[in-house]
Amino acid sequence: MIQLESITKSFLLGKETIHVLDDINLSIQEGEFVAIMGPSGSGKSTLMNIIGCLDKPSTGRYLLDGQDVSSYNDKELALVRNQSIGFVFQQFHLLPRLTAIKNVELPMIYAGISKAERHEKAERALEKMGLSDRFNYLPNALSGGQKQRVAIARAMVNNPKLILADEPTGALDTKTSMSIMNLFKELNQEGATIVVVTHEPEIAEFASRTIMVRDGFIQPSEALDRRAPL
Ligand SMILES: Nc1ncnc2c1ncn2[C@@H]1O[C@H](COP(=O)(O)OP(=O)(O)OP(=O)(O)O)[C@@H](O)[C@H]1O
Ligand SMILES: [Mg+2]
Repeated sequence: MIQLESITKSFLLGKETIHVLDDINLSIQEGEFVAIMGPSGSGKSTLMNIIGCLDKPSTGRYLLDGQDVSSYNDKELALVRNQSIGFVFQQFHLLPRLTAIKNVELPMIYAGISKAERHEKAERALEKMGLSDRFNYLPNALSGGQKQRVAIARAMVNNPKLILADEPTGALDTKTSMSIMNLFKELNQEGATIVVVTHEPEIAEFASRTIMVRDGFIQPSEALDRRAPL
């Protein structure tokens, strides 16, 4: 589903070029649940932004569902994001003036879904997240875990094949983090491909595969599988 081929990413900062990703090669199959770990500043969010079509690679090729999205323009990328990808962030990114249900309806407005259908689907998504009694709450009247569940409802409401979460439990306590990860696990069991960035090994354990990023490189997996000699 995701195929990154020799991806690099650099930023121009004044006169200096900052190389952030260097020759990333990565395949993720449909239905996988993958964790991305690595030190702060290693390039995890930069990589997620490319996978999520929020940013373009400097060089290299990105095939998403067989489509070469590295050649897409901004408008085409926006369409891919809206139709195929759901996003969850550490700081929730809910619109503060919109109620929970209106936040969940947003991606469906962009997708051109009718008002009645939007409302019904948003209700169902929030119910699934255990928030039937919070439809009309504003984000600041919700707890961190509830905000993240609204964000997950918003991410899944268009039924995306791919859900990307960048440190989704970074602002939550351990118990709430586990319940959020169980929601991702359920979505994965229902067929969504999930990629989660995390600093915490207990969170990465929910995934079936962990990718380590260091200094803009993916660490070869042999190193991860190596066991202590018997
Ligand atoms: N727009 C930008 N311009 C210049 N440098 C950038 C830009 N975005 C990211 N970087 C640099 O790229 C490096 C990787 O950043 P990134 O946000 O991908 O790290 P990360 O692995 O997600 O870190 P963290 O775990 O702290 O979230 C950092 O050194 C950062 O300063
Ligand atoms: Mg990051």
